[in-house]
Amino acid sequence: MNFQTIVHDGFFNNPDKVREWGLTLDYYHKDGTFPGVRSTCTKFLHKKFYEASATKLMALWGNYKREDWDLQLQFQKIKRFNDNPDINIGWIHQDTGAEAAAVIYLDPDADLNHGTSHYRIKPGIAEIDAKQFPKNDKGEDQRWVYKKVLGEEQSRDPEDLKLYYENMKIHNAHFEPTLNVKNVYNRVIAYDGVQWHGQTAFHMDNDDDFRLTLVAFITSISRPATKRFSLNSRYI
Ligand SMILES: [Fe+2]
Repeated sequence: MNFQTIVHDGFFNNPDKVREWGLTLDYYHKDGTFPGVRSTCTKFLHKKFYEASATKLMALWGNYKREDWDLQLQFQKIKRFNDNPDINIGWIHQDTGAEAAAVIYLDPDADLNHGTSHYRIKPGIAEIDAKQFPKNDKGEDQRWVYKKVLGEEQSRDPEDLKLYYENMKIHNAHFEPTLNVKNVYNRVIAYDGVQWHGQTAFHMDNDDDFRLTLVAFITSISRPATKRFSLNSRYI
């Protein structure tokens, strides 16, 4: 891994203001590869906010210059799928295509369990099996169930959700947790793009509440964070 997992509390000087602004934005669910909806990248909404936040995020890992990196920074809202607490958890995944990622929690009174968990593949399970999308009975497009629930359609049809849940259970059973970071207001968790992870939970008491975060995907970087030390020892 090129980027250490870092948990840092008190990320924004004024998180209330960031939250307030986040709540005024429009949200979309275009590609269906994550639960909930996201805003447009803040780069296009408020350049100053984007530059300051992204620079601060990158500083968690090292002394990077502005030309060293590029990243996507968006607000994300996640609501529950239905009233079954067991379905309202993350599908364990890697952030494929991102060098690293970060999540900043922006709910002042969040359920602590609505944070982020890291996982590893259980001993004895081949990586290829963990990566393979679970089989379902809907024909050739194995991603059908995933897209239907998470994509544009945002299906909440009980049958679709049942199939989604069954597939998620099969998939998530390949992993065991290695880290559980709680949802604390203004905390950031940052991690490598290959790190297996997921939302620990996002079950709410009603259909209207949501989990608000800022999510970052580092799309390019000049050098890995692990290479920022110049030590000569063989062991350290
Ligand atoms: Fe992710």
